[in-house]
Amino acid sequence: MKREWWHGLVGYQIYPRSFYDSNGDGIGDLPGILKKLDYLKGLGADLLWLSPMYPSPMVDNGYDISDYYGVDPRFGTLEDLDRLIAETKKRGMYLILDLVVNHCSDQHPWFQSAVADPSGKYGGYFYLKEGKDGQPPNNWRSLFGGSAWEKLPGQDNLYYLHIFAKQQPDLNWENPALREEIYRMVNWWLDRGIAGFRLDAITNLKKDLTWEDLPPDGPDGMGNISESIARMIRRDGGTRNGIGVFLSELRERCFVPHDAFTVGEASHVSPERLSEFIGEDGYFSTMFAFDAINSHIRGVCYCEDDRHMDPDAWKRDVFVNQAALKDFAFEANVVENHDRPRAASLFIPEEEYGFASVTALAGLLVLQRGMPFLYQGQEIGMTNCPFELEEFDDLSTLDNYRFSLKSGHSKEEALEGCARMSRDNSRTPMQWSAEENAGFGGGRPWLKVNPNYPRINVARQEAEYGSILNFYRRLLNFYKSEEYHEILTYGDFEPLYEDQEKIFSFRRTLGEKTLTVICNFSGSERFLSLKEDYSEVIFVNLPQVTRIGDNLILHPFQLIVTEK
Ligand code: NOJ
Ligand code: CA
Repeated sequence: MKREWWHGLVGYQIYPRSFYDSNGDGIGDLPGILKKLDYLKGLGADLLWLSPMYPSPMVDNGYDISDYYGVDPRFGTLEDLDRLIAETKKRGMYLILDLVVNHCSDQHPWFQSAVADPSGKYGGYFYLKEGKDGQPPNNWRSLFGGSAWEKLPGQDNLYYLHIFAKQQPDLNWENPALREEIYRMVNWWLDRGIAGFRLDAITNLKKDLTWEDLPPDGPDGMGNISESIARMIRRDGGTRNGIGVFLSELRERCFVPHDAFTVGEASHVSPERLSEFIGEDGYFSTMFAFDAINSHIRGVCYCEDDRHMDPDAWKRDVFVNQAALKDFAFEANVVENHDRPRAASLFIPEEEYGFASVTALAGLLVLQRGMPFLYQGQEIGMTNCPFELEEFDDLSTLDNYRFSLKSGHSKEEALEGCARMSRDNSRTPMQWSAEENAGFGGGRPWLKVNPNYPRINVARQEAEYGSILNFYRRLLNFYKSEEYHEILTYGDFEPLYEDQEKIFSFRRTLGEKTLTVICNFSGSERFLSLKEDYSEVIFVNLPQVTRIGDNLILHPFQLIVTEK
């Protein structure tokens, strides 16, 4: 594998709105992030990904951009961002931004101009189509509910496409003029000194230009648009006429000249196609390994999803994924982000939540092959938050609630589903201390603070030697230690004890060196007969390792790393 500057780094996602509020208006901001840079450095984070901080009407919390060249005043100024770039560099860290170019906001001047003159230049920046018999052009359902088509304001029968909310019109990547605008903007940011981008919804860029109906999959007679997207990626492989045309152009025009790091939010990429996307000349540096953490998702609404991740399904998916990557690429390993419930709640049943289980999850994430990405608050074991219906903010949660009711679920079931799976769970303010509002800032936070903050917060865990936070520090130190960084970055990955239920174990090898990770990801003690010997235990989450002959007695959620 060709060595790259970003190999071996630890990523950390910041959701600016909820990270730290420096001026008491209840909204996290860039000066707030600046204040916490030393904390992040001390944790072991190297590469910070900021969720969108651009000017936005905030219908989807910044994923609806109305100006690609600025900073929303709620988050600060462009000068603050420049300062953040400089201060991260000073600390040997990197900053990447969120590139949201599948769609913009309906308040973006491009869209406003398209509304004013649909047949003009800017009409061509969007997908505008005539309706059929008083109906939208086809039966595609948007990812945030309802038809994926909305009438263009002021028009009788002209619609625009939106994969997400109707305030997020899709940009027409078939139009070379639009692509040029995007490349100019991407290069403008890279020239400013950011190290790269997280690429939002990037595999959605290519649409099915036949605009054919989808087989209906719900009571509304519509078909989920992601099915259409998936078909496009499957059908239009390679760089002939498919998504590869756009992605390689973007790479060549922007990322290659800047040696930028990119991590794709890329769905529907089959294992056989991984090398095309993230191989040596792939479209992106890496992409999130979502296929490894989605086995709990069942239906179209949250209440049908499994309450918890099945550890064995998770393990199987990780192994399948790792096998597909072999040695040509790294994926970015994650267990949580701003679109998912908290991992400590999804992967761990409530009664088993604690130091051992949360740190076991951390160890399994970081010690796999790939680039580990943490999400703010994960390092202190933040959990889902108890929400009432009126406390939710996220538009897709509220849409999911309505869809659950339509699909025949009771109000209680719908609410319970949202409580478990809502994206708001991971968006509650970061819990810095036991002070008012979890020390997030002086004002009333924009979203409910998780009431468990007096117990789960940074200040408390700083002070406690055996805390989850201090474990994360120890884990990332171990990951980056002179002795083991190389093997933990480049070492091969090989599953072990596959048939042992809830034993998650693998081997990392590089040259003569071999490390073995063994974790009992369950709430009961386990007895494991060792298949191979080791000479030294080099890392643990729980101190006592009991071995009797060839048998290992593993405490609930014990994780050990041994060296041969
Ligand atoms: C994926 C982002 O992660 C999510 O938060 C957002 O709602 C959609 N893309 C639309 O941009
Ligand atoms: Ca603020």
